[in-house]
Amino acid sequence: MTIAQSESDKIYDELIAAHTIMRRGVDLLRTALARAPTAPVEVDSCVGVGRWLIEFVHQHQRTESDLFWQPLADASPTDIGELHDLTVQHIQIDRELDQLASRLDHLEAGREAAAAQALRDLDVVRQTLSDHLDEEESLLKALFPMLEPALIRTLRTAAARCASSARPDLVLGLMSEPTPTVGYTSMLSSIPFPARALRPLLIARFHNRKRKLGLAA
Ligand SMILES: [Fe+2]
Repeated sequence: MTIAQSESDKIYDELIAAHTIMRRGVDLLRTALARAPTAPVEVDSCVGVGRWLIEFVHQHQRTESDLFWQPLADASPTDIGELHDLTVQHIQIDRELDQLASRLDHLEAGREAAAAQALRDLDVVRQTLSDHLDEEESLLKALFPMLEPALIRTLRTAAARCASSARPDLVLGLMSEPTPTVGYTSMLSSIPFPARALRPLLIARFHNRKRKLGLAA
């Protein structure tokens, strides 16, 4: 017998799916940069994936702060301090991503040692982001069930509307591999039908992108 998922389980799983895309995206870029790319196609691919990742994280954090924090603070005023801490962490992550973005500009411009510097900057943000996501997941798992189901449905719809439509092959590929992430089915149903129907093409494009990064696909 299948047990119907609660709205709070759904929004939590969708959060985990988005966080998994970010964690896997960071690891993908890290592996590519660690190869010290020099061929123009590899450099272009690293810069493209890096810029997409930076915008994905910025957008995700904006969505959390703009949509989720206020209703969660209303539902659990004693956790306002925790939500404030998460916001401070968002600001720090945004700063570190901006630093990484300027390194990617250097990499694109062919500056010497730019890949190694970008890798160092990525490792800094990787640690900050990982610590933040762990803390956020633990807090939101406790807080989401405090919201009314109807409100959660509204928030889920609004969050899906805010999601970036850039590089759907990366979003789908990182959600799918090496194993479908928690929240995969729910996230997929929120993707517009034309993109869903193109799934095989997008996965093939994701593999092609990995090859252009110099990685096995
Ligand atoms: Fe966050």
